[in-house]
Amino acid sequence: MTDDTGVGTIRKVGVIGAGQMGNGIAHVCAAAGFEVKLNDISRERIESGLATINGNLARQVASGRITEETRQKALSLITVAPTLADLGDADLVIESAVENEEVKRKILRELCPLLKPEAILATNTSSISITRLAAATDRPERFIGIHFMNPVPVMELVELVRGIATEDSTFETARAFVERLGKTIAVSEDFPAFMVNRILLPMINEAIYTLYEGVGSVEAIDTAMRLGARHPMGPLELADFIGLDTCLSIMQVLYEGLADSKYRPCPLLVKYVEAGWLGRKTQRGFYDYRGEKPVPTR
Ligand SMILES: NC(=O)c1ccc[n+]([C@@H]2O[C@H](COP(=O)([O-])OP(=O)(O)OC[C@H]3O[C@@H](n4cnc5c(N)ncnc54)[C@H](O)[C@@H]3O)[C@@H](O)[C@H]2O)c1
Repeated sequence: MTDDTGVGTIRKVGVIGAGQMGNGIAHVCAAAGFEVKLNDISRERIESGLATINGNLARQVASGRITEETRQKALSLITVAPTLADLGDADLVIESAVENEEVKRKILRELCPLLKPEAILATNTSSISITRLAAATDRPERFIGIHFMNPVPVMELVELVRGIATEDSTFETARAFVERLGKTIAVSEDFPAFMVNRILLPMINEAIYTLYEGVGSVEAIDTAMRLGARHPMGPLELADFIGLDTCLSIMQVLYEGLADSKYRPCPLLVKYVEAGWLGRKTQRGFYDYRGEKPVPTR
């Protein structure tokens, strides 16, 4: 893909992590005409990501948002990349593995020697310092935060976050790339959890405290915020949707990064994560999703 909008240098996009965010990122990149290589820790997880993309594209065709031709073309643009070496010819790699700094640093360290020197590296982290992640790479000037929202094909916003060393040319290429995906950009400084999650996650954490202290049941809290504050989803429903492991990681980054007790993760959130009840992705969180319809667990 060549043009004069600044995105001309990007044709091939590598995506690391084929979970709910990674497969959504692969989906929107392919739908916009980029070649995509999808990586995860096992072939099985990549295949499962591809199946989700296929289902979501089919839904978009059914609702008339894209044509069958676009769906076929998008699917043909995505290939599996079982190893990081398979991403070696990418012009842009977007890391979207689990929200764990050690895992992300390890991926970045292993990936860098395999990339073209001019390739741009981005992370979809929800909260971790872009400057610190950039320091684990050999190219902090070509490293940037491109923070998509969940679900990626539906949500309009992308936060763009520069690290201390990010060059203007990297920022401009990333901006043009995100605009090509049809998304709207909000620029954030590199502070813990950026803007959306700095505001959203403390609210979700407070909803979990409200449950923990027995102020209301799961259903009462979600109903209160849906009907009382006009939120499209209740905060506990939303926590299950985001993933409780991701919610806890973001609260830990806020708590440690801003050194303020107001960000202390609720012990009940910790307990759910310790139980492996991570929300929708494990079929159980504040609701149990194993039956016909979600049933509150408290
Ligand atoms: N869930 C959200 O609402 C949301 C929104 C915006 C950004 N994010 C961020 O996106 C990233 C991914 O979150 P998610 O919700 O897709 O999580 P997820 O649990 O659905 O997927 C994570 C994927 O990463 C893979 N993975 C783990 N280690 C890996 C490795 N070493 N190499 C390659 N893949 C590896 C896992 O196998 C899994 O498939 C996180 O950084 C998260 O903070 C999440």
